Order: sequence, then structure tokens, then C-alpha cells
Amino acid sequence: MSEFDFNVLIVDDEPNIRSGLAKGLADEGGRIDTAEDAASALEAFGTHKYHLVIADVRLNCGINGIDLVKKMLYSRPQTAIIVITAHGTVETAVDAMRAGAFDFIAKPLDLNLVRQQVRKAKEHYKLQLENRRLRSQLAHAGEISNIIGTSSVMQDVFHQIRQVAATEATVMIHGESGTGKELIAKALHDLSDRSSGPFTAVNLGAMPETLLESELFGHEKGSFSGANRQKPGCFEQASGGTLFLDEVTEMPPKSQVDLLRVLETRTFRRVGGEQLQQTDARVLSATNKSVLDLIDDGSFREDLFYRLNVIPIQIPSLRQRRDDIPLLAEHFLRHFCERHNREFKQVAPEAMQMLSAAHWPGNVRQLRNVMERLLVTLSDNTIHAADLPVELKPRAATKSAAQMRPLADAVEECERETIAAALEACEFHRERTAKQLSISVRTLHYKMGRYGLH
Ligand SMILES: Nc1ncnc2c1ncn2[C@@H]1O[C@H](COP(=O)(O)OP(=O)(O)OP(=O)(O)O)[C@@H](O)[C@H]1O
Ligand SMILES: [Mg+2]
Repeated sequence: MSEFDFNVLIVDDEPNIRSGLAKGLADEGGRIDTAEDAASALEAFGTHKYHLVIADVRLNCGINGIDLVKKMLYSRPQTAIIVITAHGTVETAVDAMRAGAFDFIAKPLDLNLVRQQVRKAKEHYKLQLENRRLRSQLAHAGEISNIIGTSSVMQDVFHQIRQVAATEATVMIHGESGTGKELIAKALHDLSDRSSGPFTAVNLGAMPETLLESELFGHEKGSFSGANRQKPGCFEQASGGTLFLDEVTEMPPKSQVDLLRVLETRTFRRVGGEQLQQTDARVLSATNKSVLDLIDDGSFREDLFYRLNVIPIQIPSLRQRRDDIPLLAEHFLRHFCERHNREFKQVAPEAMQMLSAAHWPGNVRQLRNVMERLLVTLSDNTIHAADLPVELKPRAATKSAAQMRPLADAVEECERETIAAALEACEFHRERTAKQLSISVRTLHYKMGRYGLH
């Protein structure tokens, strides 16, 4: 017996080769199955986890062996595939290697040689396991990829990430806009067994219902006017990897029902398609809304919420981790120095204090944008308090009694600051800003004009 399972699937249309290989490899540990054609091979592949597939590329059936290799690697990229080629067909061997095969063996088969190859594949698999173990150790050791944060609330978040990353659990990430939800989703993917598979992110907030369906599930050629060819949807693209559903609470009601069904059955149909497709993508989602409120007012389905929110991770706002602000500010300065080829700038202590005390409605993204702008626009090598944008300056409420003024003025100032910060956080994207502020684009335009925010 070996120290770990190593399951092998043998695909060949000749019964002698199937039984010969199965017998010859019986001592390699793990389960050994055989299939006589591509269809039954794919069926077995969908049901069991194989570490190695040995397949004849000249199968007597619908699809050829190269397509079989592609299909298998598409759904499980870590699988080692050894193809059997007829003697002297170098081109097929090259095609197979290009398609991602691990190795090839020429007929007639030499059982000793096959065993050697299988051991090589096993060795490779062991290395993969070892890498994964090291990766998770690394994640336990300290910072996670490029996420900055030494505050205790962020350390807490990192702890949760490490706990759930390697599982298949469905995670819902909650947090205000700009807190780093997408970064966290990516970290969950990078630290998982699926890290060599795709990470597919889709923003469900910005899409009308009709487009959304085809975006998620794909469509068949001719399924609607403009569908000139078949297109795979996100669920297919994320196969073998992670699907990140951003702004999931913005989905229209009909799409919520569709998504719920996929999560429950793990199957879907392309728009205009008959055939049921399987998905094995791990689903992560994010929202910047209070979901319970949305459930209360009927705009988000409770059953879908419980499907998505199996493991909730709450990302604190930047205001709740002010300790991290100096670190983040310097991190972004350094980053943009390199990117824009500028000299590094110091942040004067009183400017840093002001950064640390600001309200940051746009959270880390707003801080990032502010640091980039300061770096690019200032010529001095030190950033002073006076250089900081007005919306970061202390709020009206802290002013002394001598500066008391009409309520309307205070309200206007507050409104101006809020809008300016939201614009900044949304990179001056009007629709997004309006949405974030829960006002219409028209109202936003009007107010921008009024406060001279252009
Ligand atoms: N802790 C962090 N360390 C370093 N960079 C960060 C951190 N948090 C966020 N960022 C950066 O801030 C920006 C915003 O992060 P991200 O897009 O992940 O936020 P979000 O929560 O998804 O926002 P939204 O709700 O608006 O989509 C990105 O450029 C990201 O790289
Ligand atoms: Mg995001």
C-alpha cells in the first residue's frame, strides 16, 4: 500500500490492453478503473477523483483522445494524463503534450516503462501535495498574500480565511465598499486546492436580467439575436476553480431563482440549450449591503441567502482598523512610486494623524486613490497636512462654539464631503457613485455642479 491514494483510470478500446494495464498497475495503490470509450471515460471521470488517466488517443468513438485530454484537464487541471500513441505518430504525441498531457507512451506497450511513467506521475502528485502543505503553512505563518493588516480585527479576518480557504465551503464576504472584499475572495482561492484552476469574478450589480442569464450560464449559438456563436458562461469558465459573485444582492428576482437552482442541483442549462451541464465551481460571493434588511424588504431571497452565507466573513471598515492606516498609506505610496517612477515621499506626522483620523467612507480604495493622487501631484518630497484633500480634514462637528453656524451650512458641508469621498472611492464613475449614495445619477449631477465637484 502507498502512503496516499493514487487512483488511475485506463481508457482504451482494446480489452487486452485494458486488462493488461489494470493487472500490471494493481500494486501501485489506490483504485484502478477502466473505460472502453471517451463517453464512459468522462462519466467515470465525473464521478470519481482520478490522479492519473492513461488514455489511448485513437479511440473508436465520437471524440478523439486529444479532446478527451482537454475536457478532463478543463474540469480538473491537476490530473496527470499519459496518452498512448500508435508507434511512430510523433505528431499526435506533440498535440497531446500541447493539450497539457503529462507524458506519452508509444505502442507496443512495455509494462516496465509504463510503471516507470506511473511512478513519475505519482512523484509529481506527491510534490503537489507537499507544495499545498507548504502553502497553507505559509498562510498560517503571517500575512496573507498581499493583504495588508496588523490590526487585531484584520488578524481575525486572516484567521477565518485560513480556516475556510482549503475547504469547499461557500463563503459570503460582507463589508462596505472598498474594504477589500475582492482581494479576500482571491486570497481564499489562492490558498485553496483550486489555486491552479481559474478564478472567475463576475459583477452582478451592473447587469440587466437578460444579459445576466447568458453571462452566468452561457448561451447556444442563435439562442437570441446577436448570439452568433456558442459562449460558455461563468459557471463553465470557473470549472475546476472558483466563481466569485460580486454584488450578489443586486441580482434581479428571476436570476436569484436561477442561481438558487444551480447551487442546489449543481447543474444548469445554457440559454437556448437542452443539455444539462454540470458545475463543480466553488462559489464565493460578496455584498456591501445589509442582507437582512434586503430580505426584510423582499428584494433578496432568504433561501438564496442561506445557501450563499454558509460561512460569512465580515470585513471591517477602515474606520474600525485605524491602526492599519499608516501601514496601508506607506504601502500604496511605495506601490505608486514604482508604478509612476517617482521618488518616495514621506508623510509628515501631522498629515499621518489626519489620515488616521479621517472618516474614509470609501475605505481602503479611497485611501489608495488619495495616496496615488498625492504622489503624482505634489512636487515636495514630504506630504503635509495642508496637502490633504478637504474631505479628509476634521469634521464640522468638532469645531468650537465660536464657529457655530446655521444647520443648513453644516448639512451642506457634510453633503459635499460625502459626495466628494464617494466620487473618489468610485473613481469618478457617475453611475457607481450614484448607486453607492442611493441617489439618482441626475441628482448626483446636480449636486456635483452645485458643489463644484468636477
Ligand atoms: N488590506 C489591504 N491591503 C492592500 N490593499 C488593499 C487592502 N484592502 C483593499 N485593498 C485595495 O483596495 C482596493 C479596493 O479593494 P477591493 O476591490 O477588494 O474592495 P471591495 O470591497 O471589493 O470594493 P467594492 O465593494 O467597491 O467592490 C483594491 O485596489 C485593493 O487591492
Ligand atoms: Mg469589489
